[in-house]
Amino acid sequence: MSVQDRIAVITGSGQGIGEGIAHELASQGAKVVINDINQERIDYVVNSLNNEYGEGSAMGIRADITDPEQAKYLIDETVNILGRIDILVNNAGIARDKTIRGLSIEDWDKVLDTNLKATFLTCQAASHHMIRQEYGRIINISSRAWLGFKGQSNYAASKGGVVSLSRTLALELAKYQITVNTVCPGLIQTPLFDDIPQEAKENLIKIQPTRSVGKPKDIGYSVSFLASDESSYITGQTLFVCGGKSLYSSLSV
Ligand SMILES: NC(=O)c1ccc[n+]([C@@H]2O[C@H](COP(=O)([O-])OP(=O)(O)OC[C@H]3O[C@@H](n4cnc5c(N)ncnc54)[C@H](O)[C@@H]3O)[C@@H](O)[C@H]2O)c1
Repeated sequence: MSVQDRIAVITGSGQGIGEGIAHELASQGAKVVINDINQERIDYVVNSLNNEYGEGSAMGIRADITDPEQAKYLIDETVNILGRIDILVNNAGIARDKTIRGLSIEDWDKVLDTNLKATFLTCQAASHHMIRQEYGRIINISSRAWLGFKGQSNYAASKGGVVSLSRTLALELAKYQITVNTVCPGLIQTPLFDDIPQEAKENLIKIQPTRSVGKPKDIGYSVSFLASDESSYITGQTLFVCGGKSLYSSLSV
């Protein structure tokens, strides 16, 4: 599977799953653009990738991708500096969990803006370049939660939207040799997971068919497969990387 010398933009890659995806793609020879709103985290990840995989493996672009101008800047600046964009991974995402009675309009808008609108904005900006190149791999990070999870109506709706958006873009862009696929992580060990109280963590692990928590690199492996030259005949698909949790119709704890 090859991503050698491909130019990849990964949104929200200053930590967590995005950082794991960046490591996997860079380890396979891609040149990665680390995007985040946190400049310190961008610098940390860029330095560690350049140390580990060689100078020029990574560069950083700070942009808040919920802002249409900044989303476009991220993509256009990548093409200005590196000449093209082959791979776009929409990973930046947030959660503001509350049941419907307590969910504010602000919590709804913030989650929908970050998880769904920003994905549309970067896909639109990248598609202009990818159509011209007649090559592209777009991988959008959704979540197993799009199938439904109590207390996550805003998050689940945004992630369901990501699946629908990806399937539709797959149809629109297929004739330009651009594939669009979705990866749905389940429980993954990130700073967010580490902060959960011990008892709640144990409850979450108990309902995992595998009785385990995934690692950011598990998402990295699936993304690098969908980002590879060899995955050209796979588009519009939704891949669950969740230790089997998607096999239940709906879960809560
Ligand atoms: N961690 C999990 O268990 C899990 C499970 C399913 C899906 N996901 C999804 O995976 C993705 C990554 O999750 P994570 O756990 O690594 O999250 P995280 O909070 O650890 O990292 C997300 C990164 O995105 C950045 N970000 C947030 N808003 C941004 C914006 N507007 N512009 C640019 N960057 C922005 C943050 O600064 C942060 O560095 C998200 O889309 C999340 O919904 C995570």
